[in-house]
Amino acid sequence: MTNIAAHGGQLINQYNPDLDLTGIMKEVELDATALSDLELIATGAFSPLTGFLTQNDYDSVVKDMRLANGTVWSIPITLPVKDASGYDKGDTVLLKQNGTVYGVLKIEDIYEPDQQLEAQNVYKTTEDAHPGVKKVYSRGPVYLGGPITLVKRIEREQFAEFYFDPSETRRIFQENGWNKIVGFQTRNPVHRAHEYIQKSALEIVDALLLNPLVGETKSDDIPADIRMESYQVLLRDYYPADRVKLAVFPAAMRYAGPREAIFHALVRKNYGCTHFIVGRDHAGVGDYYGTYEAQEIFSNFTAEEIGITLLFFEHSFFCKKCGNMASSKTCPHTKEDHVILSGTKVREMLRAGDIPPAEFSRKEVVEVLIRGMKQTANA
Ligand code: ADX
Repeated sequence: MTNIAAHGGQLINQYNPDLDLTGIMKEVELDATALSDLELIATGAFSPLTGFLTQNDYDSVVKDMRLANGTVWSIPITLPVKDASGYDKGDTVLLKQNGTVYGVLKIEDIYEPDQQLEAQNVYKTTEDAHPGVKKVYSRGPVYLGGPITLVKRIEREQFAEFYFDPSETRRIFQENGWNKIVGFQTRNPVHRAHEYIQKSALEIVDALLLNPLVGETKSDDIPADIRMESYQVLLRDYYPADRVKLAVFPAAMRYAGPREAIFHALVRKNYGCTHFIVGRDHAGVGDYYGTYEAQEIFSNFTAEEIGITLLFFEHSFFCKKCGNMASSKTCPHTKEDHVILSGTKVREMLRAGDIPPAEFSRKEVVEVLIRGMKQTANA
């Protein structure tokens, strides 16, 4: 059995805890996004990236969704700073957070990006009401580009047993004898529509990698620790243990809709998935993207360029007449019979103290979420 190739051909490894740091005086303080990006570059999750984008690659990604060498890449992975006056091209700088050195950057490039253009092309809006755009505008006006080395892993207390590097998920897939593995991205508790599309996919592949994003999310998304508990309860009671792996994706959420769907798919390929689910309004926020834009965007590329099989799903819902989950592809009934569910709606109901009905969420999941939300409210 052969593993699926990493994006760009080779799984990157830029981790070296023995790197000699003596004499490196300059430093950059990392925000949460930059720190998680540093680690994900180093472990190969962002293969073929070996560092933060230089201007050539950045311009090409913003304009064409490709690195300068033509490889598909849709989200600029950048290292912004507020003030670059202390840095020069050719410097090697320490990458730190709160006094801890996590890595080094060899500065190849220092450039001032056109952030309005980045916002428009990547997020399809220049409004700072969009959480991803707001972040672009607030992180810093100058970008440092160049290759990185990670020298220290991020220590994690919460759900440490669910962190796996791409090399580890690949090994796990192999040990289990799984040839076809479908990756599922989520930033929400798993509701019935998620379960429906995951299990529809499971009918045609060997295994599911439930891969919730647990990096930075916007403040009204449900916190990762509550979600993790809800996933475990759901898997315990409703999924075949020998065909599902729960592993976290420690990246920041960008809310870039279509462009982020490409990014999410490529990264899951690096983790060893052969298939990836894109449903309705993947990685969307508000009304910035059309329902199926995150599927349509893939038509800009050939299947070989993407290199992971995409499984597109229609908007699914519970149909009272059918008595089960369905979509417009499988259900002949009208809107009046449909219970439309979404993560946003589940969140709203929970916040209002309402219990989402069984057509929305499994009772065991709802119990975890209610308990979690109460604890958060009391904290
Ligand atoms: S995301 O921001 O991480 O994409 P979410 O956790 O809501 O958000 O969605 C996870 C995946 O399930 C995405 O591929 C999304 O398109 C899909 N999805 C969510 N709800 C539905 C639904 N009702 N019908 C079909 N697909 C859905």
